[in-house]
Amino acid sequence: MSKGMRKGLTSYGDPGFSLFLRKAFIKAAGYSDDALDRPIVGIANTYSDFNPCHGNVPRLVEAVKRGVMLNGGLPMEFPTISIHESFAHPTSMFLRNLMAIDTEEMIRSQPMDSVVLIGGCDKTIPAQLMGAASADVPAIVLPVGPMLVGHYQGEMLGACTDCRRLWGKHRAGEMDADEIERVNERLAPTQGTCMVMGTASTMACIAEALGMALPGSAAIPTTHADRIRSAEDTGKQAVALTKSGPKPSEVLTQAAFRNAMTVLQAIGGSTNGLVHLTAVAGRRGIKIDLDEFDRIGRAVPVLLDLKPSGQHYMEHFHWAGGLPRLMREIAGDLDLTARTVAGGTLKDYLDEAEEVRGQTVIRSCAKPLKKTGAMATLRGNLAPRGAVIKQSAASPELMKHTGRAVVFESVEDMTDRIDDPKLDVNPGDVLVLRNAGPKGAPGMPEAGYLPIPKKLLQQGVKDMVRISDARMSGTAFGTIVLHITPEAAVGGPLALVKSGDRIRLDVPERRIELLVDEAELARRRAAFKAPPPPPGSDRGYAGLFQRTVLQADQGCDFDFCVPGRVAAGRRAAE
Ligand code: FES
Repeated sequence: MSKGMRKGLTSYGDPGFSLFLRKAFIKAAGYSDDALDRPIVGIANTYSDFNPCHGNVPRLVEAVKRGVMLNGGLPMEFPTISIHESFAHPTSMFLRNLMAIDTEEMIRSQPMDSVVLIGGCDKTIPAQLMGAASADVPAIVLPVGPMLVGHYQGEMLGACTDCRRLWGKHRAGEMDADEIERVNERLAPTQGTCMVMGTASTMACIAEALGMALPGSAAIPTTHADRIRSAEDTGKQAVALTKSGPKPSEVLTQAAFRNAMTVLQAIGGSTNGLVHLTAVAGRRGIKIDLDEFDRIGRAVPVLLDLKPSGQHYMEHFHWAGGLPRLMREIAGDLDLTARTVAGGTLKDYLDEAEEVRGQTVIRSCAKPLKKTGAMATLRGNLAPRGAVIKQSAASPELMKHTGRAVVFESVEDMTDRIDDPKLDVNPGDVLVLRNAGPKGAPGMPEAGYLPIPKKLLQQGVKDMVRISDARMSGTAFGTIVLHITPEAAVGGPLALVKSGDRIRLDVPERRIELLVDEAELARRRAAFKAPPPPPGSDRGYAGLFQRTVLQADQGCDFDFCVPGRVAAGRRAAE
């Protein structure tokens, strides 16, 4: 197979002419024949003024290029789209698959022998892993790294667990407008990704656990010299990958995904991580089994004392030894023979782990933060294809709870009514949000963290059972059931709930049930009318999304991006 500049020639009907023309144009940029004969390492640049989390990307690109050249390769930087959580309408998840397609096709269509994927903000690393899994050119992930912590009145602050907590205090009248403004300036004190175990940190850890990023690279803060050195090392390793791989198909195996599920449970990872991992696995034709994930969670405890499940932040995780040190604690639950982009196996990552005396961030299995894993998967007549709860960030007293449903038809309906003093709601009720799933909203927004109604907040209520077909930020805390599948908009049972019905949550038994008899449910099912598709769904990307997005248990990928899916029949896939 051709390499370097000769790879993937543009089709003019004459390969010799195609190469001649390509070289003529690249020489316009001043490259020598010596440079053009080197292995080419593509560098996906996801810098954007709309993505402050990726503010350090230019420095990382420079360091990756240095590493590539130190190892005899030719670095070629190229842009892809970039997505920031707070700058994407209607939600970043709506655009993840677009970025995955962009990444895949840019890797496939340009002449690179390997690629460095620089990502970080929540949906970017998932999109890059999805694209790389499909393109199957040797690829290595370089996370941008987490922010440093902020400080306010002697207290450490972290985006965005404390964003939500302090905004809640403001809504409850415990923090005035001046105070909340000052907090706003301190919550994200540096560039980089959110420094709690939100989705960005989770996905950086997942990339490392999958063997797709260098050891220790997930937790190094954005601002540190170690981050730059890690970028240089990544560039060097990307050149090694051009020679003998491994390719993503050799790294992203069943064993690697099981390792990633195990790490996801042990770090107290984001529920979004489960959806993204499912999507990446789907690109390799591998199914993430929710029941297996739950079994892993029963056996593997949460070991990482990090917000929102614990107390510390990502920079403390880094100084405690990072993910390699944590993985050493659960070595017996990992397949250490899994290959990695570093050229060996996962065992090498563990062997490199630094032993930090006296650290309290990474717990041992004998003294875990939580006795079971971060997440549990639920089933029942409300969620025939599953739902998930982050039990490590939930209130223990609500893990078995039966309450009266208070239903919101949509995100807009919830926004309009949640703080209405006339809303009929009590602390023991179950807040229900529907039509916020992959097709319903669209894009399955992070609306699953329904705010506690203001009047209850003012009574001191801190948590309630909340259920939805939406997602939730990995940084959030609460007894919140998410990803109810199938979603309401396609006729899932969540569409049948009425305010006043009783709902039972039983996390120890892994059940979520609507306590309405089957005859009544059948009547409601017969009367069900699907809501109209979201505005704009008649064309373009929104139309493509509406027609082809899969449900949460399938990773919310587009059906035509999953190998064999369309051939097997779109209807059967639903
Ligand atoms: Fe970018 Fe949190 S907003 S990682």
